[in-house]
Amino acid sequence: MHFLGRFPRTRMRRDRRDAWSRRLTREHVLTPSDLIWPLFVHEGEGLATPIASMPGVSRLSIDLLVEAVKEGHAAGIPAVAIFPVIDPSKKTNDGEEATNPDNLVCRAVRAVKTACPDIGVICDVALDPFTTHGQDGLLRPDDRAPWYANGAYVVNDETVEVLSQQAIVQARAGCDVIAPSDMMDGRIGAVRDALEHEGLSHVRILSYAAKYASAFYGPFRDAVGSKGNLGKGDKRTYQMDPSNGIEALREVALDVEEGADMLMVKPGMPYLDVLWRVKEAFGLPTFAYQVSGEYAMLKASAERGWLDWDRVILESLIGFKRAGADGILTYAALEVARALRNEPHDSRP
Ligand code: PBG
Repeated sequence: MHFLGRFPRTRMRRDRRDAWSRRLTREHVLTPSDLIWPLFVHEGEGLATPIASMPGVSRLSIDLLVEAVKEGHAAGIPAVAIFPVIDPSKKTNDGEEATNPDNLVCRAVRAVKTACPDIGVICDVALDPFTTHGQDGLLRPDDRAPWYANGAYVVNDETVEVLSQQAIVQARAGCDVIAPSDMMDGRIGAVRDALEHEGLSHVRILSYAAKYASAFYGPFRDAVGSKGNLGKGDKRTYQMDPSNGIEALREVALDVEEGADMLMVKPGMPYLDVLWRVKEAFGLPTFAYQVSGEYAMLKASAERGWLDWDRVILESLIGFKRAGADGILTYAALEVARALRNEPHDSRP
């Protein structure tokens, strides 16, 4: 590096000496505009059900969800991501409820957009909240490979057709951003075509482009009640292998080519290298998802007094920005946005 200095003329500690000079030389800042708040919705009224493995997070009935979104909006959060907890009686093998225009997600989106039109609403496209087997797609017997995963396979092209319908009902309900999180091949192009065909060309697609088969999703599956459904199953035939980095660039390239407006890398902290590569290579708006397990880890340690929550949460989020994220999905969005309003991150000593 041509700007390499030599000690003692160069002393790195000079710029670090005072709070004002640390502030002045800071490379990245975190603001409420960087945050996307994932929220869980379930049936009922005035009902909030805490999620044991995600301290501080509850599933909310639609009326309380609307209140939460208003609070998020007031705190400066630009967008929320809504995840439904589907009543077990509505789950089926093929997850038909996903394409019902009056399902829980669609009702929630309508209520949120009516009460708070200025906040962006993001919805997942994937079947796992709706299927009895907890897979993101359609599970079909595979006669050619009866030895394989009990002779069943999550079929691709048939799933993509259902996902396209799911995207349409959500977009018609008022969802601003469709976020396919299923990792089927070709789904971004299919969803884009379906939206265009329905005159929904303004609806954006945020692709969970590099989504790994991660154990860090555990608490989320508790939250939406898909863990029991999935049982001993896993998602390794469609989600990415955690050992792969370059493969993420191929996944992203396909999604960009198929019409993704924004990209996501998920999970967050164990995949900062992937985030950096994706942002560098494509330059699209790129988000990191600090997933349920990451949130749970930090919270649990803080509850034991082993970590200082207020500091580790901000440090973890600024790490995403440093690695190239344009925004972060985090369950801590509301409290962080409020804290930043009182004391912006770039003014902390
Ligand atoms: C559904 C979906 C998952 C998450 C977001 N959308 C779980 C999964 O793929 O099994 C995980 C989010 C989190 O852990 O916070 N496809």
